[in-house]
Amino acid sequence: QLADSLFIVNNFARDYFVQTLHETEEGQNVGLSYFEERGFTEETVRKFQLGYCLNLRDAFVREAQHKGYNMELLQKTGLVTIRNDQPADNYRGRVIFPIHNQSGKVLGFGARILVKSDRAPKYINSPENDIYVKSKVLYGTYFARHAIDKLDECLLVEGYTDVVSLHQAGIENVVASSGTSLTTDQLRLIKKYTRNLTILYDGDNAGVKAALRGLDMAIEEGLNVKLALIPDNEDPDSYVQKIGVEGFRQFIADNKQDFILFKLQVSLREAGNDTAKKSQLVNEIAETIARIDKVEDFTKQQDYIRQCSQLLKIDEEGMVSLVNKYIR
Ligand code: GTP
Ligand code: MN
Ligand code: MN
Ligand code: MN
Ligand code: MN
Repeated sequence: QLADSLFIVNNFARDYFVQTLHETEEGQNVGLSYFEERGFTEETVRKFQLGYCLNLRDAFVREAQHKGYNMELLQKTGLVTIRNDQPADNYRGRVIFPIHNQSGKVLGFGARILVKSDRAPKYINSPENDIYVKSKVLYGTYFARHAIDKLDECLLVEGYTDVVSLHQAGIENVVASSGTSLTTDQLRLIKKYTRNLTILYDGDNAGVKAALRGLDMAIEEGLNVKLALIPDNEDPDSYVQKIGVEGFRQFIADNKQDFILFKLQVSLREAGNDTAKKSQLVNEIAETIARIDKVEDFTKQQDYIRQCSQLLKIDEEGMVSLVNKYIR
């Protein structure tokens, strides 16, 4: 019941922000120009239902109240806050990215400031409520699911704009973690469509560390995880716009690597000549490999044992027994 009401409010807000973007002077001059400058076409803006919230104290909430939407609900969606005892719009002066569930219903919003500032966060995202549970959502699933299913691969990026840009370039099997580390629920969502996950994060980013932490989880879910690191100071949005879609596809093809082997190489580099660290690393990798389902993916497990033993310069038999020790 509450969930239904929240969907109805979000639906109204989505329509309101879309209309504001296209049909008001401020929406056009500020919001649409912003998207245009970022290289998003009118068609893309329409498809993703991007919007704009006027830079006024309470234009949205007044309209919402006028239409009879309940104040408590409006606050639960995060669209409205109480400031100095008066209701105020939370996203004013920001462009709006609706966040959809798999069937296209609006769970919440990401609202981006137009000019970066020290005083305000770049994005304000909806607070968690009965329908928006961050750990279960991947931005773009609604637009990507058919392509993911058809291509049997899901690309994972960090941001809303990465999803939007790649779609516009014709790469549609892409969803975003929205800057948080992956959860089991998100991995299961991906697994409904494919077992092949390719992570496209930038190399100097904490995101890769976060993804590494999620690796064991992903393996436990039976996903094949690959990784292509986007060059420094770029993200998929900026990079695809810079080098074009063919260049981008080629870059991914050339740089896509297995995530378990990537993890091993990173750890090997960190361990250097420290034998204690190296032996700890051998154990960690054995533990990771042990998470691969031995019944379902026996040859996959064998392959990793062989490749990792070689990289670690250790005996394959030893690795087998170590892996077996960790199988639960
Ligand atoms: P642009 O700067 O518009 O190109 O966005 P981006 O997607 O490249 O942003 P960035 O790489 O900085 O962050 C990736 C994702 O993390 C964003 O799409 C957001 O989902 C999230 N994020 C970024 N900044 C903030 C913030 O200030 N607050 C919150 N809550 N989330 C953020
Ligand atoms: Mn499939
Ligand atoms: Mn970077
Ligand atoms: Mn960006
Ligand atoms: Mn980014």
